Amino acid sequence: MAFLKFPHGFTWGAITSSYQIEGAWDEDGKGLSIWDTFVRQPGRIERGENADVAVDHYHRWQEDVDIMAELGLQAYCFSISWPRVMPAGIGKANAAGLDFYDRLVDGLLAKKITPFVMLYHWELPQALEDKGGWGERDTALAFADYAHHVVQRLGDRVTYWITHNEPFVAAMAGYFTGEHAPGVQNPVIALRATHHLLLSHGRAIQVMRSELPHAAKLGIILNLSPTYPASERQEDIQAAERYDGAANRLFLDPVFRGEYPPDMEAMLGPLFPDVQPGDMQTIAQPLDFLGVNYYSRAVIHHDPDFPIIQASETHPKGNEYSQMWEIYPPGIYDILVRTYKDYHPAAMFVTENGVCVPDGVDFDGRVRDYRRIRYLRDHIAQVHRALEAGVPLQAYFHWTVMDNFEWAYGYRMRFGLVYVDFETQKRVVKNSGRWYAQVIRQNGFDPQSVLPL
Ligand code: GCO
Repeated sequence: MAFLKFPHGFTWGAITSSYQIEGAWDEDGKGLSIWDTFVRQPGRIERGENADVAVDHYHRWQEDVDIMAELGLQAYCFSISWPRVMPAGIGKANAAGLDFYDRLVDGLLAKKITPFVMLYHWELPQALEDKGGWGERDTALAFADYAHHVVQRLGDRVTYWITHNEPFVAAMAGYFTGEHAPGVQNPVIALRATHHLLLSHGRAIQVMRSELPHAAKLGIILNLSPTYPASERQEDIQAAERYDGAANRLFLDPVFRGEYPPDMEAMLGPLFPDVQPGDMQTIAQPLDFLGVNYYSRAVIHHDPDFPIIQASETHPKGNEYSQMWEIYPPGIYDILVRTYKDYHPAAMFVTENGVCVPDGVDFDGRVRDYRRIRYLRDHIAQVHRALEAGVPLQAYFHWTVMDNFEWAYGYRMRFGLVYVDFETQKRVVKNSGRWYAQVIRQNGFDPQSVLPL
């Protein structure tokens, strides 16, 4: 394979989320988030870990921005902690909370790193959860008000805005399986949360369109799984269709078509949320881009024991696995091409793609994470293939900059281009960080290139 050159102007970045890196969980007026509550419930997080300190990015942000600049990142996507800005979720904004993001944005711009700002990466203020959280329609209104406060402070310097990261996970892990905060296990609330998250997206886009400069670029980030039946059996093919409906189309259809998928409405029947007149038009606000998060594919079989969708994932043999998923690079091509063909977003970014493998520091202080370099190489090659297939891809963001708090797994799963010693907070750029820096410098890579020692 010849050198894979990306289009001029293609943006290379990396992405994090506030709860997973900031720490300072109760500093400078920050209110409680549902995760601050959740991590204190016994059994929720491996080894009882929490992100009270995380990787102390709240205090070490300048060092981290310097490392991003050293890697040559052209863009950095980060989320705002809603309760750091609005401690009670509604009402008065916390100036000290906004000041932190102000400093961060100015620090990024000083290093010529374009900030991409996510309003929500799962950090609901606990005060709103106490009133029903995303199960309540009023939370969608509160979200729009929160968006107003953030864009008022940062809108003069931030062009790229994302309303939500992975509303599927926020709704289903938070309110159906209960694996994530707030740890509710109720399908009716999970579907109400789905609708209210999407409604809040639409309302926030309306607020941002009216308050931001015309040049602002607005979008949403969805985790999308290319879905394949585990066999040729009709029952597996139909199960894969249901899984695709619940994991992908339940979010893509409202955002891009202004309707829920008919097969999902039929399947969910009485569980379906109460959609008010005008809701779907609000949700389907025109967007400037869609962010796609891809990690692995979903190989689905009919599973009569799985509630509601009677479909669950299998784990096919024959491919490499990370600590969390099968490694399947063609899946990123498949989902990008399918999403563009079926929904025609004006532009698309890969907003998360990465792998957790057990990294360690060698005698000479290097972190030789060749598996992550191979993952990066093979997935970026598929992204290049999708570009050549006509997908309007404008950016690739790697998950993630530095090792951080991996939700229910605590600190066991390392995804970073930068290794963090969680005891000392020392940062060490991994070999994958060096390799990615070269991809950025060359705007592409030679698949035959020798990996850094
Ligand atoms: C997600 C979240 C990230 C995760 C990452 C690795 O996609 O689950 O956006 O917060 O840490 O994906 O699991």
